[in-house]
Amino acid sequence: MGAADRPLLLLDCDPGHDDALAIALAARHGRLLGITTVAGNVPLERTTANALVMCEVLGLDVPVHAGSPAPLVAELRTAEFIHGASGLEGPTPPAHARQVASNDAVGFIVETVRANPGEVCLIATGPLTNVALALRTAPDIAQQLRAVSIMGGGIPWGNVTPAAEFNILVDPEAADIVFRAGLPLTMAGLNATHQWMFDETDIERLRAGGGPVAQFCAELLEYYGNAYARLGSNRLEGPLHDPLAVLALTHPALVTTTPYHVVIELTGTHTRGMTVADLRGVARAAPPNVEVITTLHAGAATGVLVETLTSYG
Ligand code: BDR
Ligand code: CA
Repeated sequence: MGAADRPLLLLDCDPGHDDALAIALAARHGRLLGITTVAGNVPLERTTANALVMCEVLGLDVPVHAGSPAPLVAELRTAEFIHGASGLEGPTPPAHARQVASNDAVGFIVETVRANPGEVCLIATGPLTNVALALRTAPDIAQQLRAVSIMGGGIPWGNVTPAAEFNILVDPEAADIVFRAGLPLTMAGLNATHQWMFDETDIERLRAGGGPVAQFCAELLEYYGNAYARLGSNRLEGPLHDPLAVLALTHPALVTTTPYHVVIELTGTHTRGMTVADLRGVARAAPPNVEVITTLHAGAATGVLVETLTSYG
């Protein structure tokens, strides 16, 4: 695909190891117009600093706009137990002098979508706070977005609780706004991302084939894989959650999706933050509002990831 044919992308994220890899994929396979940050894996100050670090590591000339420091209603919960204190533990971050372009991620999303009607694909790999605020501020953008691809939820299971996945559980009220907005929405949930695991062999492929970017990413994956090992897998491996939300847009042939009506549970005693999909079949369900990724070609997806990271040199 020629550079001009690549999709226009906005990436809203909370880096985070897997968000960092999502940035690398989005910058290579799309025309990345900007990165917006949100509080999630670690507080906003850290996710923003980590987005700037990844721009430096990857040599990107892409503006970073800081966004929401807290969910719409809930108290912020974070995931240092996976991503470490900085949110990007593992490799040593390079020194740099990069600064945020603004602290108005929501305004940047709205302006960018309105300036490119029907063209912008929005990828969200963190809690959906910024996206919900953008839709609340400017409901017209729902009709102007070409696509929205999120990492979040799981059908029918969670990771922070049995029912709820981290990104949705951090800000369920935001997710509720996004899922009810009538968007061209694709969901990379845990049911899909756990079909795409990396392991030590993939880390070795990065180390063997690449330059400094691949080395940096290999160290990211090593830290992240060890965190999952401590959680119970007992082996160096992990799910490639956030990269899948990018590939669903840039390499759609790698995934298959099924349309479902999905709602966000806001009040359940044990199920707050659950993505409740109506699996009963079209005759009984409300009209679908989400294309849920149900299967993917994991080996080919890993090939794209390794090739992309090693291509940075
Ligand atoms: C999601 O939570 C975060 O820890 C990851 O970055 C990913 O976006 C997985 O539940
Ligand atoms: Ca994330």
